[in-house]
Amino acid sequence: MIEISNVLTLTGERKSFLIKSNDTVKLDATNLIAFPGLIDPHVHFRVPGQEYKEDWCSAAAATLRGGYTTVFDMPNNLPPCITQARLVEKKELINRQLQAVDIPLRYQLYLGADKNHFDEIYKVKKEIIGIKVFMGSSTGDLLMDDESSLHAAFAIATKLNLVVAIHAEDEEMIQQRRLKYKSHASHYIHSEIRSPEVAAKAVAKVIELVKLYGTRAYILHVSSISELELIAKAKKAGLPIFAETSPHHLFLDTDAYTKLQGKAQMNPPLRSKEHRLALFEAIHEGVIDTIGSDHAPHTLAEKSKPYGESPSGVPGIETNLPLLLNAYNQGLLSLNEIVALTCYNIQKLFNLEANEDLVLVDLNQEKVVDQSKLKTKCGWSPFADWKLKGWPVYTIFNNRIYNLQK
Ligand code: DOR
Ligand code: ZN
Repeated sequence: MIEISNVLTLTGERKSFLIKSNDTVKLDATNLIAFPGLIDPHVHFRVPGQEYKEDWCSAAAATLRGGYTTVFDMPNNLPPCITQARLVEKKELINRQLQAVDIPLRYQLYLGADKNHFDEIYKVKKEIIGIKVFMGSSTGDLLMDDESSLHAAFAIATKLNLVVAIHAEDEEMIQQRRLKYKSHASHYIHSEIRSPEVAAKAVAKVIELVKLYGTRAYILHVSSISELELIAKAKKAGLPIFAETSPHHLFLDTDAYTKLQGKAQMNPPLRSKEHRLALFEAIHEGVIDTIGSDHAPHTLAEKSKPYGESPSGVPGIETNLPLLLNAYNQGLLSLNEIVALTCYNIQKLFNLEANEDLVLVDLNQEKVVDQSKLKTKCGWSPFADWKLKGWPVYTIFNNRIYNLQK
């Protein structure tokens, strides 16, 4: 039996919990506050094909350590997850790995939209959380940058009542700007090539498609003012558009390149401080609905390569909640905003049932992000050595209590 007494709830009451378990744990949780188990709607756990970067054994441990109990995994694998056969195979691999570590993580998978495999969406409609559209190229070779394919994907999604999750960067502009800046060798140029205009052009296209088809569109990793303005206007007009932002866009800006170089490279890229601060405003105004970690691990060796060879993406699932709690302690976010962004709004958008999972948080604990303690296989973080106030200390999931301080 797990007995937790005196924990503070988000509504300000004190509560005690009795959880059936083989473990015998008595916990006086007077100093802790109970959050629901968090949901990460955007992770890249690299199975199949890039298990040297991450697999579901390491990722499951990282997930629980971050205070999460549910994840939605992206399809840009090797090979990409774009057919029913590959989806089935991917699920088998994941289940085997989760069994090996005895962590029955809650997970959902996206199917990658691919112009030669639209028929596959019909076959798997009940088994996926949504379809992922890469309007701009990123890690892997999934790409849908032509008009007619985009129209087809949005039309099918509406017909099947599926959410379309969109990587909104305009491919044509990326290619043009890559040529323009081809003689620049520093990682910083990544933010110039994939400028805010590149993202805004794609978001404007998404809004046009939503107007035409009424598709529920989930715009991933929103990072710039122009995207926010377009999304705010579309929401006001009543369109079913939803927006995610990422911890790196909220807490890092282009200043980070000096220290991090390739470790600050991701798609969409870091923006200036002005854009970063606008994201907090957009959260307060309800323009941003969710935060996805966009946990996208690459090895240190890969990230240390010169610009042009270094891959885009950063790990984030273990540091997101402490970053948000630290922002709460700085007066930048409320606890209700944090829990809406990381759980309730995601449940609503994707029609997920609530569960009994809990994460117990110590709002006053101060600790430095210690890379050597991370569970992610890649073993590094862009937030290494940041001193943060507010940490998850226990995740309660599947009738077990995980002590995150060990
Ligand atoms: O930076 C990124 N990394 N952006 C993406 O769109 C993909 C991701 C990855 O899978 O590495
Ligand atoms: Zn991603």
